[in-house]
Amino acid sequence: MCGIVGYIGKSDAPTVLINGLRRLEYRGYDSAGLAIIDDERIIISKSAGKVSSLNERARTDWSPDLFSRSTLGIAHTRWATHGPPTEVNAHPHLDRTGEVALVHNGIIENYRSLRARLEGKGHHFYSETDTEVLAHLIGDCDKGDLFQAVCDALHQVEGTFGIAVLSSREPEKIITARRGSPIVIGVGDGETIIASDAAAILAHTQRVIYLDDDDIAIVTADSVDIRDLHNIPVTREIAELGFDAAAAEKCGHEHFMLKEIHEQPEALANAIRGRLDFNLGSSVLAGMGTSPRELADLGRVVLVGCGTSLHAGLVGEYAFEDLADIHAEVQQAAEFRYRNPIIGNRDLVVAISQSGETADTLAAVREANQKGAFVMSLCNVVGSTIARETGRGVYLHAGPEISVASTKAFTCQVAVLLMMALKLGRGRRFSREDGIRLAREIEMIPALVAKVIQQNDHIAEIAGTYAKCEHAFFIGRGPMYPVAMEGALKLKEISYIHAEGFHASELKHGPIALLEKGTPVIAIACDVPGKDKMLGNIEECRARGAHILGLVSEGDHETAECMDDFITIPRCHPLVATIPAVVALQLFSYHVARLRGCEIDQPRNLAKSVTVE
Ligand code: M6R
Repeated sequence: MCGIVGYIGKSDAPTVLINGLRRLEYRGYDSAGLAIIDDERIIISKSAGKVSSLNERARTDWSPDLFSRSTLGIAHTRWATHGPPTEVNAHPHLDRTGEVALVHNGIIENYRSLRARLEGKGHHFYSETDTEVLAHLIGDCDKGDLFQAVCDALHQVEGTFGIAVLSSREPEKIITARRGSPIVIGVGDGETIIASDAAAILAHTQRVIYLDDDDIAIVTADSVDIRDLHNIPVTREIAELGFDAAAAEKCGHEHFMLKEIHEQPEALANAIRGRLDFNLGSSVLAGMGTSPRELADLGRVVLVGCGTSLHAGLVGEYAFEDLADIHAEVQQAAEFRYRNPIIGNRDLVVAISQSGETADTLAAVREANQKGAFVMSLCNVVGSTIARETGRGVYLHAGPEISVASTKAFTCQVAVLLMMALKLGRGRRFSREDGIRLAREIEMIPALVAKVIQQNDHIAEIAGTYAKCEHAFFIGRGPMYPVAMEGALKLKEISYIHAEGFHASELKHGPIALLEKGTPVIAIACDVPGKDKMLGNIEECRARGAHILGLVSEGDHETAECMDDFITIPRCHPLVATIPAVVALQLFSYHVARLRGCEIDQPRNLAKSVTVE
């Protein structure tokens, strides 16, 4: 979604800001803009569309000299919420005097009443955005102290914000603040970079400070002074990012998605490393922060997430019930706090989120905390809001995931959920020997995934048969049912083919009406419980003319013969097999989308992290 970059230092600010915005492009956006201060005036350049258009625009409008003498500025990529993605709605927005500029992520929920009040005082608004209202409000509060003006304005707003503000009257600083929308500050050598995502900071420094909600910072080239909204100083540690700029590069791959699919053996090895205990037949997940007694006392596991993370939770549901003999259920994070979730202090709520910033998942975490549940998270982004608010949990260590379509985060989420289920299972149901056997299976996951990736060329060839279809149906049973849902999500988001995932038995309760001659059905028919019934479901589809692509277990020639095309999945534990199976579907979706000429890494209308409800 929207991205913020702010810079104050010794380099040419417009170039630094535009490069920073490029690093945030993966998050999804539809317009961009930047503001600098020159000769005691704020100068703005904006463009609907891509950062490349903004770059051209700024380089046309501004002289090279202006570029090189500006050492402070703020910039933004906007994912439209209030008003279409036009130049006038793009950020930065100015206050009434034109002396204060603001970029903003999040939503000011009471902007209508604030706007009416300001209009009553003679303010005129040019855009449809909530952000312009906040810019005017800050300007209205400014009595000569920008920091105090931002504090006063933020006391009046309801909603979420990550902001960066500059004023031509105080041109040596940027004010930044957050509530519900991340801000990270990179502390460089004689330069400070503000961003909504560490990806924009990587090129400058590894040293970062994550703001907490209701923190507000006065940032100069050499200092970061953080306070709360009542002007009380607060201390925030400097953290190391732990990954370098190369991690956010394509490294020779045509797309980030393909790179991230190929990175999975390594990402999974990182997610698993040091976390299996072959002696006890268990797993070591210190971040869970649970004693064996607490684990034994748990009544239920509730998994919450959205999109791909929700699908990982669905696999986790099977894993917790099968392996740990504990009641488990998945709830859509978006619904969690709007129903009456029956949650108590013997329930473990696991929030699953790659970004750790998804608004719905964060809201579910807060609801579960309020209800006294034992809450933990499974996040990829270190220091993200959900990771910090839960305080307990397990990081995925998958490395930065840039492509909007989640791949390596999903497989690492499932691997970690399997390890969590193993840990719970050992306290409840598993013998040491059972535990060791499962730990050995989990240890093999990176190699199993590598075997699927070796079929890349074969999968690319198969994709040609499906690239022109308009609809596709994915079916699975048992733990392969969530894999079918994830396969369908992947295909629809990057290829724009209408794809749906169903439990194979559900087909004849309705969706089978959609099958006609040639309709692709992607059947996950690996050797998992229920496979015989799955073969029956495939025959039902074939009888109606469907074209079947099967995922079959290695060496299962009989099943392979039922398929029009097939991809083999290495033999392993049925829950473990969900991981190589999904990798095959990721590659399939990728190649179909590539053949259709789609913009794979930044699909239309999508954002990498969805920070609004
Ligand atoms: O960062 P999160 O895991 O919380 O994100 C949840 C979803 O928005 C995300 O998985 C989305 O569905 C992806 N586009 C899937 O590829």
